[in-house]
Amino acid sequence: FTVPLRITVIGTGYLGATHAACMAELGFEVLGVDIDERKIEMLAAGELPFHEPGLPELLKKHTQSGRLRFTTSFEEAGAWGDVHFIGVGTPQKPGGYGADIRYVDAAATSLAENITKDALIVGKSTVPVGTARRLATLVQERHTGPGRISFAWNPEFLREGFAVKDTLTPDRLVIGLAEGDLDAEVILREVYASQLAAETPMIVTDYETAELVKVAANAFLATKISFINAFSEVTESVGGDIRTLADAIGHDARIGRRFLNAGVGFGGGCLPKDIRALQARVSELGLDRTMRFLTEVDEINLRRRDRVVSLAEEVLGRLNGATVGILGVAFKPDSDDVRDSPALDVAARLFNSGADVNVYDPQGNANAAKRFPRLNYVDSYVAAATGAQVVMLLTEWKEFKELHPEDLDGLVQNKVIIDGRNVLNVREWEDAGWTVAALGRKFDPARDMVGLNAGV
Ligand code: UDX
Repeated sequence: FTVPLRITVIGTGYLGATHAACMAELGFEVLGVDIDERKIEMLAAGELPFHEPGLPELLKKHTQSGRLRFTTSFEEAGAWGDVHFIGVGTPQKPGGYGADIRYVDAAATSLAENITKDALIVGKSTVPVGTARRLATLVQERHTGPGRISFAWNPEFLREGFAVKDTLTPDRLVIGLAEGDLDAEVILREVYASQLAAETPMIVTDYETAELVKVAANAFLATKISFINAFSEVTESVGGDIRTLADAIGHDARIGRRFLNAGVGFGGGCLPKDIRALQARVSELGLDRTMRFLTEVDEINLRRRDRVVSLAEEVLGRLNGATVGILGVAFKPDSDDVRDSPALDVAARLFNSGADVNVYDPQGNANAAKRFPRLNYVDSYVAAATGAQVVMLLTEWKEFKELHPEDLDGLVQNKVIIDGRNVLNVREWEDAGWTVAALGRKFDPARDMVGLNAGV
């Protein structure tokens, strides 16, 4: 092995690009590898194809210094690198619930066929349990060149919007190893020396546990969100305040307040796909009942979207011909990602029901327009609200959370706002003459509508 270690990162999407730039920041020489030439050209020029706070600066800094390079050549990567991280995507299978792991297989195989010196391959992608053990064997079968290959699994827990921070200062490191593979452990301790110096816990375990830690964490987070959203259905029926409920149970340290924000539910490239892939995998293992609760978690989550659409219909009388201003289409704030975004799904459904839909997201408009071009994308919340009969807050960007009634004064015809993320101060808006309909709040149009006639 070379000192300092030479690191390659296979797959330069969200996870890979972040990992590559952060490894360079830690002082390693890094080579990012992808089969997508256009992406590689962009990254090599120091341009990031997606929005992530802090990452463009790292990318620029290290592409300029030469510490971070990019290539499409596995031959170059295999001859050069000591530690090869695999961070390619594992999307949901078309037409199915399982994870499509062909890109992981392809990356591992291409590496094995091109490695010509002692090397460690480290899987980072989120995969069905059992993948690492299978790949560890596959890699040995395909490797015919000189050198010895070790194989480890090191799942990634980064959140969009915090990717740099989560990579440089993670909550924990999880390393799955072949039994007795002390060399791999030593190398990974070297890679993560700065995190270990900062006392980040490192869990060294077997392949299966390492793979499962990742899906268990995501399944738990998704369950927590759907748990509070299920209570939203109850408070919508009987009355009560879902935020106060979450605050109160969250004070119990065993429960904790985080990930108990009720609203239009979870989306993005991970939680929805990962809970479905986990169910598909355990079914394959013959454990059909084991993760059945995740079907409920998924359904509760999707029902939130139905509810927010029906709220719009209740306040408007009918959707056909109405104008709706949507604030937020990214699946969460500080991200331009609209994959499985509840907000975009809701906007599209309103459009399909005949509404004119104005959309503003601080970062997500361009990606949303690629997926659903027929909405009216505008460049400010003022433009989205102007002429609308109702405004819907669907992604809790800071600029939306900090809105006050006077910011929308005179723009929204019926002074109705639907809070799909439970972030507005209801009292303040109602005092200013607004009707506020929020997920998790009981809403009776006949009683709660104030101001102008809501019909269109
Ligand atoms: C998630 C995990 O958090 C991360 O550890 C893993 O590596 C990848 O998946 P991410 O998809 O970036 O990260 O988003 P996250 O911040 O977890 O939010 C997921 C979704 O849940 C968002 O749509 C968010 O709006 C929603 N959410 C989150 C809620 O609806 N309520 C909450 O209380 C928290």
